[in-house]
Amino acid sequence: MLVEKQVPLQPYNSFGIAARAERLARIGHPSDLLGLMAQPEWGHSPHFVLGGGSNLVITRDVAGLVLKVEIPGRCLVEESGRGWLVEAGAGENWHDFVAWTLDQGWPGLENLALIPGTVGAAPVQNIGAYGVELQDRFHSLDAIDLDSGRAFTLDAAQCGFGYRDSVFKHAPSDHRGMGLAGRALITRVRFWLPRPWKPVLGYLDLERKMAETGILAPDARQIFDWVVAIRRVKLPDPALIGNAGSFFKNPTVTPEQCADIIARDPRVVHYPMPDGTVKLAAGWLIDACGWKGKTLGHAGVYEKQALVLVNRGDAEHPCTGGEVMTLARAIQTSVYERFGIRLEPEPVVL
Ligand code: EPU
Repeated sequence: MLVEKQVPLQPYNSFGIAARAERLARIGHPSDLLGLMAQPEWGHSPHFVLGGGSNLVITRDVAGLVLKVEIPGRCLVEESGRGWLVEAGAGENWHDFVAWTLDQGWPGLENLALIPGTVGAAPVQNIGAYGVELQDRFHSLDAIDLDSGRAFTLDAAQCGFGYRDSVFKHAPSDHRGMGLAGRALITRVRFWLPRPWKPVLGYLDLERKMAETGILAPDARQIFDWVVAIRRVKLPDPALIGNAGSFFKNPTVTPEQCADIIARDPRVVHYPMPDGTVKLAAGWLIDACGWKGKTLGHAGVYEKQALVLVNRGDAEHPCTGGEVMTLARAIQTSVYERFGIRLEPEPVVL
């Protein structure tokens, strides 16, 4: 299999950060990986698994071998009166996969339309939007152990899903020794789409669409179209403006902490959670600190949604990962100083 050397990574990360991979191999089939693992140099150099690169900040050239996952394929595994079991290769584009399931007449993923990235990367951060998280539709995934070459399958419980979190984001020592960061390459993912289909419409932006259009019982295709329209208004298209989606997680606080913040600023956007904690809108906190539309170096805060950091560089003056992280730290400091809240970045920082 061909291993390319000194490969520019700019086209492979949605932030559009310029960096190079010392070596890069395209994994189109699990056997490509096993072939690489059989070579003597495998054990001597680090490796990094790259999906769609849409949740990634690259702060340096990447030493060792980048494994670019391009495994294709999508199929119906099983259909019954209870639902559809659908499978996709890890290299499939997430949005195209969602659109394809709807074209086939298998609803359930419509709220997750237009999320950038690949199918294989989706479980890593348990993508979520408009009231649905990947874990709500997840069945199982296949992966390969990067130490032993052994193939294995995980169900939802074994993936340890949390808010924008899974075992794939944790070092081997975390998660009671079950962390799989850097240790596994996801090859295929299966989704369970239950019948009868039930729309998820509780999110404020979707309720607004229902009120505006008067469509009170939308079908899955209608919800898909609404989600695409809402995202296009709020979020920058990575093909035009480099970004990695939401840059920080929405923090959760105790009701007492929330009351304290409300006392300081009654407008704070907050949502009570079923477990008694309160989720705060990080975008609102950042906005309240005056960051919306600001630029530091060649990194900036998107003018329509303060939770998204964007690339304001150009061909002559490219934005570096270091500039993105400098901006991120400045935002964290001002939110901490004003509200006493530590914002946690969402993307993987390399
Ligand atoms: N807000 C502001 N100013 C801003 C941004 C937001 O006041 O600059 C307020 C909004 O008015 C709203 C609240 O904050 O009242 C929440 O904003 P929004 O509904 O846009 O959602 P979000 O919390 O910013 C989360 C996810 C998104 C997901 C949307 C929809 C996280 C970190 N982000 O964003 O996910 O698409 O909800 O479900 O949970 C991603 O993870 O990359 C991502 C885009």
